[in-house]
Amino acid sequence: MFKKEKRKSWRSVQSPFIFNLARHLEARSRYVDERVVEDEVEYDKIFKDIENLRADLKRSTDTIAVEDHGAGSRVFKGSSRKVSKIAKHVLQSERVAKSLWKVLRFWGMHLEEKGNIKLSVLEMGTSLGVTTAYLSAAGCDVETWEGCQNTADVARNNWIKLGLDKQIDSKVGKFDELLKSTKGGWDMVFLDGHHDGGATLRYVEELKSKLSTGGCVLVDDVVWSKGMKTAWRELLDDSYWNVTVRWRGKGWLFHIDGAVEQHIALSCVFKF
Ligand SMILES: C[S@@+](CC[C@H](N)C(=O)[O-])C[C@H]1O[C@@H](n2cnc3c(N)ncnc32)[C@H](O)[C@@H]1O
Repeated sequence: MFKKEKRKSWRSVQSPFIFNLARHLEARSRYVDERVVEDEVEYDKIFKDIENLRADLKRSTDTIAVEDHGAGSRVFKGSSRKVSKIAKHVLQSERVAKSLWKVLRFWGMHLEEKGNIKLSVLEMGTSLGVTTAYLSAAGCDVETWEGCQNTADVARNNWIKLGLDKQIDSKVGKFDELLKSTKGGWDMVFLDGHHDGGATLRYVEELKSKLSTGGCVLVDDVVWSKGMKTAWRELLDDSYWNVTVRWRGKGWLFHIDGAVEQHIALSCVFKF
């Protein structure tokens, strides 16, 4: 636990905004917005297709030459990597991806009610494109960044198989460079690559001016290493992020005008 944080279950969260986030991340279907539950049934086919694809990738015999711009790996040595190993060790799990789908679906519905607007999402770290597929299936405008061309090519192939390639905007390049050359305007950024404390702080700082009003950042692996823990502590101390929620090793950062400062570590109910 970090000093600033209070541990809470999704049920005990008082702020309606965080309660809605927390229940879509952690609660059983009967506590989730009923329209999201209805959509979950409707989207069952695409979820199955994505998970069949993940299973195929786990069985793949292909190897790719990878250019790594990240913080190094505890699983891989060298630049030649088996696709099966990437699929097993690098990607977000089905449960995490599905939780993100629910949250984005919920937020997206509220935005659509206000006009014909879609949520705009950036994923920093495409890898094989499996989580990207979930973000896209949530009906968001999705942009995704990957530093390794060969990896991005595998992802694009996967989206073609899923019929999602036309709706995903994929860019190849280093995060630092892509961040400098973009105007942004995202409602949510999932920082899922380069888990280095210093780099994370740099990206998050840069993202402040690239988010839409009320936009948020989700940082993966905030307790992965000493450096990432230090970075998370610094982010908690940054008064700009007045609402934070730590969930399953990830940290949500919000800048909400007028909100009471609060930092929550969400208790996890299920085994993921
Ligand atoms: C953890 S994986 C992403 C997993 C993916 N989001 C998923 O769950 O399906 C991180 C990816 O980010 C890429 N990456 C890491 N550091 C990067 C950087 N500095 N610039 C561009 N890409 C980077 C890596 O090549 C890797 O494919």
